[in-house]
Amino acid sequence: MSTEARPTHRVPHTQDSVSGRRDFLRLLVMVSGGLVLSTGAVAAGVFRRHATGGNRGKRIASSIAPGEAVPFSYPGSDDPAIAVGLADGTPVAVSSVCTHLGCALLWKKDSGQLECPCHEGVFDPRSGRVLAGPPPRPVARIRLEKRDDGIYAVEGPA
Ligand code: FES
Repeated sequence: MSTEARPTHRVPHTQDSVSGRRDFLRLLVMVSGGLVLSTGAVAAGVFRRHATGGNRGKRIASSIAPGEAVPFSYPGSDDPAIAVGLADGTPVAVSSVCTHLGCALLWKKDSGQLECPCHEGVFDPRSGRVLAGPPPRPVARIRLEKRDDGIYAVEGPA
């Protein structure tokens, strides 16, 4: 058995290394806390956005006459939509964002269709189906509900 001292690989703790670790842990806790708070804020925003379009819905008009169009936003204020009164008196609604390149759709009372002024896309307001032009898919429909005090958007776009 040797009595020779073995070289140690341990680095002695200095005041600087301890405070450096504390600073690092403090930073880690702050970053983690920030992530938790921002995740909560995003979740709350999503919940609020869906709650806006929840069961109560959003009142968009007192009535919509045949041939009349009512622009509105749903479910959020950045989600443009349009409701139109069909010839039979049925109110229908769709997203008013063209599925081609995102231009705003216009209601054409004479043809009873929604038209995109950018590349002549044409949509059926009842189904959202593409009738002409380059749009690759239908516009999303929004379900409306007639109530005693008006017409509400209650679900969608879907
Ligand atoms: S953006 Fe509507 S047809 Fe092109």
